[in-house]
Amino acid sequence: MKYNTTVRKLSVIKADCVCLPVFENSHFSENEQELDSALNGALKTLIKQIDFKGNAGVASLSTLQNANFKNIILMGLGKKDDLSLSTFQKAANKTADLLKQNNIKTAVFANIDLQLQACAQSETDTTSVFLQAVASKRYSFDKYKSTKNTSTLSQLSIQTNKASQNACKQGLEHGQALSMGMSKARDLGNEPGNVCTPTYLASEAKALVAANKEMSLKVLEEKDMQKLDMGAFLSVSKGSIEPGKLIIIDYKGGKKNDAPHVLLGKGITFDTGGISLKPGAQMDEMKYDMCGAASVIGVMTAIAELKPNKNIIGVIAAAENMPAGNASKPGDIVTTASGQTVEILNTDAEGRLVLCDALTYIERFKPASVVDIATLTGACIVALGHHRSGLMSNNDELANLLLTAGKQAGDQAWQLPIGPEYDEQINSPFADMQNIGGKGAGTITAACFLARFAKQFPWAHLDIAGTAWVSGGMNKGATGRPVPLLLNYLLKHAS
Ligand code: BES
Ligand code: MN
Ligand code: ZN
Repeated sequence: MKYNTTVRKLSVIKADCVCLPVFENSHFSENEQELDSALNGALKTLIKQIDFKGNAGVASLSTLQNANFKNIILMGLGKKDDLSLSTFQKAANKTADLLKQNNIKTAVFANIDLQLQACAQSETDTTSVFLQAVASKRYSFDKYKSTKNTSTLSQLSIQTNKASQNACKQGLEHGQALSMGMSKARDLGNEPGNVCTPTYLASEAKALVAANKEMSLKVLEEKDMQKLDMGAFLSVSKGSIEPGKLIIIDYKGGKKNDAPHVLLGKGITFDTGGISLKPGAQMDEMKYDMCGAASVIGVMTAIAELKPNKNIIGVIAAAENMPAGNASKPGDIVTTASGQTVEILNTDAEGRLVLCDALTYIERFKPASVVDIATLTGACIVALGHHRSGLMSNNDELANLLLTAGKQAGDQAWQLPIGPEYDEQINSPFADMQNIGGKGAGTITAACFLARFAKQFPWAHLDIAGTAWVSGGMNKGATGRPVPLLLNYLLKHAS
């Protein structure tokens, strides 16, 4: 797919389809007026004919008499003064649907006079969101299907004016990098467990690093982790014949001594629950238990494109959680790399066991911030459904930056509390802590467990159990979230 910006007038643009924003109860903009006059009022007539009111989030495809383009999609954006990012996102998604359903090959998005609420450079965001909508509808994971899904759209132009052209170019650059990162995260998530193993994740990281000279790679094998006394991580990986790996992707875009921002992803490439075996129904979806890791590789893919002048480290704790003769059993006690001991009451609470040793390892980087991303608890889906990721943190400033980053990227999170009253729930009679918190607040007690290993740095935890994939049916699949939130955080907020 090709992208470009153009400052040509609408009336002279040739394309299969023009996508034109329309506001509720609003006069024509200069851009629309220009087109309408050139067509002797045909645009006004069309809008009357189909009774298009510009309601927020509605999109409609028609043909327009005598125009240089065959089709026009009117994008309803609601009231001009309160255009929010989410309204624009909705309209862009509907528009992308129409482009796909109608097999459009070349499309133009008229991106003039759009002012998003509380946004300084709206054209950058509207361009990036539009591109992302189009790219995400084009995405399909069909490598194992005999019949491939074809998408016809091959060219997207952003029509704008001289004053906004640079902003639109930036939007294209950001949108392209973001879409690449999201597709990568979706591909990795959708890849089945017999292919996407910890070794596969390491080879994906290797390929990314090989193509970028600002990046370097380190992979800790199980024997390396033994030397570091990572008893919690190894208690999970030992039950599988697939060797566990701790994968570290180091991007140096900043000064040598700038403290890095670290992303840590849960990479359980399949979660059977272990000896605390999960029920069979929909267990296939536990191939998505590495979506935190996928989001880290996705973000690093985008970072490799955009090359910000910051130091960023992506860490992936990759293992398979299997029942086996040598697997961990409920009641087993292990010693973590931090020296703290853990009683494993449920082998299905394995994510926190691989992450805690990775958090201890991360201390050596003296990070400016650490964000872990994990499909950690089913309880998070009960609390927040599939709309927002759960956010917990030991640092309110970091939490607020992440909440803002999510809002701006249309990929929201919602903060849940952590604190001593919840932390108590993971005290154990036999060890320093146990790996489950009993009845109530399962998402929070999981975070409290991680917090005990994150005392040396500002840390936040994103529980993406509800947001990383769509469950069941023909729409099943990885979403690429929270790549938009994380990328926006790293580019605009992390300092
Ligand atoms: N990977 C799961 C969490 C999960 C479950 C994500 C369903 C998405 C959908 C995690 O490893 C897990 O099994 N968590 C347990 C924790 C419990 C044993 C305290 C859970 O949520 O049931
Ligand atoms: Mn589990
Ligand atoms: Zn899991």
